[in-house]
Amino acid sequence: MNSYSIIDHQYDVVVVGAGGAGLRATLGISMKGLKTACITKVFPTRSHTVAAQGGIGAALDNMGEGDNWKFHMYDTVKGSDWLGDQDAIEYMCRNAIPAVIELEHLGVPFSRTENGEIYQRSFGGHTLNHGKSIAKRACAAADRTGHAILHTLYQQSLRNKVDFFIEYFALDLIMSEKDECVGVMALCLEDSTIHRFRAHQTVLATGGYGRAYFSCTSAHTCTGDGNAMVLRAGLPLQDMEFVQFHPTGIYGSGCLITEGARGEGGYLTNSDGERFMQRYAPTANDLASRDVVSRAMTIEINEGRGFGPNGDHIMLHLEHISPDVLQQRLPGISETARIFAGSDIAKEPIPVLPTVHYNMGGIPTNCHGEVIYPSAENSDCVVHGLMAIGEAACVSVHGANRLGTNSLLDIIVFGRAVSHRIANILQPGKVHKSITKDASDRAIARLDRIRNAKGDLRAGEVRLSMQRTMQKHAAVFRSTELMDKGREKLKGVASLISNVSVNDKSLIWNTDLIDMMELDNLMSQAIVTLTSAFLRKESRGAHAHEDFPNRNDENWMKHTVMWLNGKNETTVAYREVHMHTFSDDVKVIPPVDRVY
Ligand code: FUM
Repeated sequence: MNSYSIIDHQYDVVVVGAGGAGLRATLGISMKGLKTACITKVFPTRSHTVAAQGGIGAALDNMGEGDNWKFHMYDTVKGSDWLGDQDAIEYMCRNAIPAVIELEHLGVPFSRTENGEIYQRSFGGHTLNHGKSIAKRACAAADRTGHAILHTLYQQSLRNKVDFFIEYFALDLIMSEKDECVGVMALCLEDSTIHRFRAHQTVLATGGYGRAYFSCTSAHTCTGDGNAMVLRAGLPLQDMEFVQFHPTGIYGSGCLITEGARGEGGYLTNSDGERFMQRYAPTANDLASRDVVSRAMTIEINEGRGFGPNGDHIMLHLEHISPDVLQQRLPGISETARIFAGSDIAKEPIPVLPTVHYNMGGIPTNCHGEVIYPSAENSDCVVHGLMAIGEAACVSVHGANRLGTNSLLDIIVFGRAVSHRIANILQPGKVHKSITKDASDRAIARLDRIRNAKGDLRAGEVRLSMQRTMQKHAAVFRSTELMDKGREKLKGVASLISNVSVNDKSLIWNTDLIDMMELDNLMSQAIVTLTSAFLRKESRGAHAHEDFPNRNDENWMKHTVMWLNGKNETTVAYREVHMHTFSDDVKVIPPVDRVY
């Protein structure tokens, strides 16, 4: 191995990732007087949270309908298809209210009602009185809610004198001999210097891995780097089979058209001109939860009622909505539809298709954001020094299917929760334990191997094969045969990684090297996703299994937990779903069939 010099840093807390979760945690922790660093591979305001459009869910009841957090909790448990942990869901829905008010006070420029309160719109799966009518619960800043939140949190973090390490790529966790996390290794993209960050708590806020798929709404940076670091540290990921398809990605480009568009009155039609959602979801119609709408669209297309020469898309109509509403409430998607679909939304429908949008699975954590794993004695063993939040984590508040607006909520509520937890368990300036040299050698050995790899292939070629395999074999509908073929194919594709070379040997902005490391990260998550999906013999939420079309609570109401070793071999275990609540204020919500 070449010798690399290392630049050392010591912090109370290091947060990896500067999206909404990372910044909310960073801000909260720094406000408690702890020395905090935030490491991010992109400039903070370019993190993927910037693309979140429709709103953040919280039962503020600003539209005067009688909403409350218990209805929100009920919808979230039901939306999760009873795989969500009910204690965590209670925590999230209840804390949504103070967490959003805090955002307002921090300066997030929310849209306003005539009374000057935060404007709230309808979103799929959010109801009043346990499904009786559609709620208005999504707190919106036009259709740029993520953008508004991200900029506010970044500005507030700067005000709190956080140390940002911008355009630093996290390489690997530093684990002690006692399997505690004591920090993280990172590569500075500007000059390829290697940095060792020591921390009493390392918080992973590295987002999802949508880019394992060919067509997704996620940014190109969404490569799940934290999830992959966790797997390499010998820890498992949870519920990775549950990948959400958003019903309205623009046909061709995959860009997101917010569900808020249907919340403002938009609707879908098939090529017969039929509003087909009325058949699939007689009460909620176009505002049924995403798994339901995505499946309905796929059935319409498969049964020959799609649009276009190949009959492969559906139309989203907004042209009946008043131009004032389009301009005030949906300005962002008006522009996106014009640029990416050539559609003037005031005059014509937008061609859309279900597109990969969100990973319900990720790093298992408890309600405080502490990383956990199951052992023979305890299903919730805590990994000391390691926390995870946001899309990287699986708390699990989304279970088998996330409701729209609960992603922005998850990042804010649990970003805030880790800052509370850390303030309770950590004294500022605590002395760092000594670490062995081996602890950081693993990261450097991997970097060295990838940098010096010699082969005939480029990262982009292997990435494309992986993405096409995932798109076809871990799709909206899955079958045993389809997934089994997918696993075989993916095995072949993964073996190609050893034949990829990094041609650029320079030390300055070596994107060739980063592409390769991101591909390696994506591949491990693709393998875990497809294997977890293959093993789950039922249909639940986003996992629609054609050979097992029903939910099977008796055998499958459990979380998949999966490890991956260096030879791409998986080990599986299962954790119980928490069917208890956090307080005595709400009763457990018992499983029933989902009717929309
Ligand atoms: O449709 C949307 O605006 C997406 C929101 C979400 O995924 O929560």
